Amino acid sequence: MHAVMVSAPGGPEVLDYSEQPDPVAGPGEILIRNEAIGLNFVDIYQRTGLYPGEFPRILGSEAAGTVEVVGPGVTRFKVGDRAAFVGGPASYAELSAVKADRAFHAAPGVSAKVAAASGLKGLTAEYLTRIWPVGPGDTVLLHAAAGGVGTLLSQWLAHLGVRVIGTVGSAAKAKLARAQGCAEVILYDQEDVATRVRELTGGAGVKVVYDSVGKSTFDASLASLQRRGLMVTFGNASGPVPPVEPIRLSRAGSLFLTRPTLYDYIATTDELDAAAARLSEVITSGVVTVKVDQEWPLSKVQDAHRAMAARETTGASVMIP
Ligand SMILES: NC(=O)c1ccc[n+]([C@@H]2O[C@H](COP(=O)([O-])OP(=O)(O)OC[C@H]3O[C@@H](n4cnc5c(N)ncnc54)[C@H](OP(=O)(O)O)[C@@H]3O)[C@@H](O)[C@H]2O)c1
Repeated sequence: MHAVMVSAPGGPEVLDYSEQPDPVAGPGEILIRNEAIGLNFVDIYQRTGLYPGEFPRILGSEAAGTVEVVGPGVTRFKVGDRAAFVGGPASYAELSAVKADRAFHAAPGVSAKVAAASGLKGLTAEYLTRIWPVGPGDTVLLHAAAGGVGTLLSQWLAHLGVRVIGTVGSAAKAKLARAQGCAEVILYDQEDVATRVRELTGGAGVKVVYDSVGKSTFDASLASLQRRGLMVTFGNASGPVPPVEPIRLSRAGSLFLTRPTLYDYIATTDELDAAAARLSEVITSGVVTVKVDQEWPLSKVQDAHRAMAARETTGASVMIP
């Protein structure tokens, strides 16, 4: 099969699209023929070594396709089923051998492209909607609102009656963020975020900040929260957040701080299935529309990584093996 092997951490040039041995479905595993592979910012952290991992390895966090082989002991899937998986392993490939209890059934009637575009990002949006109770009357701040997770989460929160203030890097992205459920949009490279948030909330601040940008937004995020609000720092697109003194949370209004990862919210197969069902429901009912704005052949993986790191992408991106 063709796959993307990485021998050592580095820039996009370490992504080696080459022939590799076909994986084999062992006990409890299924072999999926991937039809579409989701591109995620976390793939960049893994490529650069920001998130530690072993090398050499085939990169990639998610894909969707058809079950080609069912390993011994698997009852959850049969040959020919449509399946998706998140958290890897090795999704940048024509074939992936995946633990059957970590794969899930893609939403009925949804294409492999949409399933691969909305798995990791959609399940992330899913747990973020329930990480803290929010609903009508609440205002939140969502950074990178025109991105993959951002466009899904803003639509979902808006559907729950939440007023979403989004931040984006350009005027074109601002237009997109508004169309995806943001009531207000801040251009965070040009405006002072905390000042704008106070203006937009009558001085009160927001109940929750969903911050995947990290280093460049962390301080403004804390300064945008209302008393006893929640800071969710869930990514590092601009770089990792430096250590934080707990006393800062006290001084900023007895704030709560969490640094979650999706995998603690889908740790068991029951949790994974429940989250996938909730995601499937909002997609099939049209509450959340998945925007697949970029598509590359897997052989052009270096271009895909460069575009994502350069903030050139909007919505979700997929690669076709
Ligand atoms: N913890 C979890 O459970 C979890 C799970 C999934 C994803 N995540 C995180 O969620 C975030 C979004 O993931 P995604 O795959 O959907 O990516 P994405 O949002 O489509 O892309 C990242 C966006 O971050 C913004 N950004 C701001 N400063 C940046 C910088 N210096 N360099 C690059 N981008 C910058 C850009 O939007 P603008 O141009 O508008 O600024 C860019 O488009 C990532 O940080 C990812 O790691 C976390």
